[in-house]
Amino acid sequence: MEISVIGTGYVGLTTGVCLAQLGHTVVGYDKDLYRIEKIQRGISPIFEPGLQELLQKTMGEKKFRATSHLPEAVQHGRILFLCVGTPQLPDGRADLTQIEGVVREIAPHLKPGQIVVEKSTVPVKTARRLKHLLEIYGKKDVTLLSNPEFLREGNAIEDFLKPDRIVIGAEDSHSAQPLLALYESFPCPKIVTDLETAEIIKHAANSFLATKISFINMIADLCDKVGADIEKVAEGIGLDPRIGKEFLKAGLGYGGYCLPKDLRAFLQIAKDQQVDFSLLEVVDRINEERPYRAISALKEIHLSLSGKTFVLFGLSFKPNTDDIREARSLKLTRLLLEEGSFVRGYDPKAGETFLKALGEEVRFTLFTDPYSAVKDAHGIILVTEWEEFKNLDWETIRKSMVSPVLLDGRNYLSQEKMVSLGFLYRGVGRGKGWLGLKHPSQS
Ligand code: UGA
Repeated sequence: MEISVIGTGYVGLTTGVCLAQLGHTVVGYDKDLYRIEKIQRGISPIFEPGLQELLQKTMGEKKFRATSHLPEAVQHGRILFLCVGTPQLPDGRADLTQIEGVVREIAPHLKPGQIVVEKSTVPVKTARRLKHLLEIYGKKDVTLLSNPEFLREGNAIEDFLKPDRIVIGAEDSHSAQPLLALYESFPCPKIVTDLETAEIIKHAANSFLATKISFINMIADLCDKVGADIEKVAEGIGLDPRIGKEFLKAGLGYGGYCLPKDLRAFLQIAKDQQVDFSLLEVVDRINEERPYRAISALKEIHLSLSGKTFVLFGLSFKPNTDDIREARSLKLTRLLLEEGSFVRGYDPKAGETFLKALGEEVRFTLFTDPYSAVKDAHGIILVTEWEEFKNLDWETIRKSMVSPVLLDGRNYLSQEKMVSLGFLYRGVGRGKGWLGLKHPSQS
């Protein structure tokens, strides 16, 4: 089938090259010339495992091509996926400028029988508004569908090719047929609903995941007070299939472009509809407090953080991506700078994107290797659980630090091993505070 993808961010590009890999002929459009020029050279503008290889392969097979010429992309596809951003406005609502703008721009070029699919995450009733917009342009014969995506960054290709479900929102089941045909080879359940239900499924899914994380973090705080271990609590409840073990990892909380933004947008939708969503307000608040707890934990060791040097291991919002949007590392860096600390950062992939987001900060230094970053440091905070951190030579690291303080914000390292290497180690919700200390507080 001929497919067009409008917007080549991580959702658009992944969708495009994966569909191309499945044998469809795909054109990816973006108004960002720099991005398109990169893609045309076979370079993925984002780091996503396997994406660049698949891009090059499908381009070589002439199954995928990129363009910055919108009419070309619109004319190509029988199905057009809209994958543009819906960023957060200051009040938490989703900014629909891009998706509305794209619909206005594509409308004059659309032909009867074409199918426009909303893949961007949008507030409920947006598809209805977009459909109305198309009608204003005289495009009554164009079908509009909603097809929310559930890709995780860092795992996007596998999630696309092996989804656990596919959701299609349509005005009637007949209109959903072309998308059902496109996804025919996927063995997962396919849920066909009305447009509003599909839009709510997306927001509800991300908000539920956020709720699980804040729930386990709330219990982690109690564990710290009473001497219990959150890792065992998570195991003990997660083995109940009604609860499930996924998304019960306590730590610094969730970041990224999706969970925080979608939860806040969902809250605003509920507010507009006068539905009580205060549960989600608390989820957001618990998450926002996580970095402050890390600062308090450091203050249990260092009476003052001013003038001291702290190293953040991991800057991306999660491993296997260079995305730093709403990353905990940004908040932590700002809090440490406010305390008067010197901050150093190391990340296998996200260093440059982090620097851009942080802006000019004289007391922040980016390092390209973890061993130089820790020299004469007063503490390390493990912010993102990149696999490489497990395999570092931690003994060498400990020896080059001024004080061997290690705050494991993801409970990723073995506490026994780190203590045996001479670190003062603290995880999140492990119930024992700082391990390796002879006295409860030191300066
Ligand atoms: C999330 C959803 O998981 C996807 O299903 C969805 O498609 C995507 O948003 C989207 O809307 O586009 P993503 O933002 O890539 O995916 O990342 P997640 O894997 O959900 O992780 C989000 C954050 O939660 C990360 O900062 C991670 O470190 C944190 N997290 C995750 C925890 O703190 N604890 C956990 O147990 C799991």
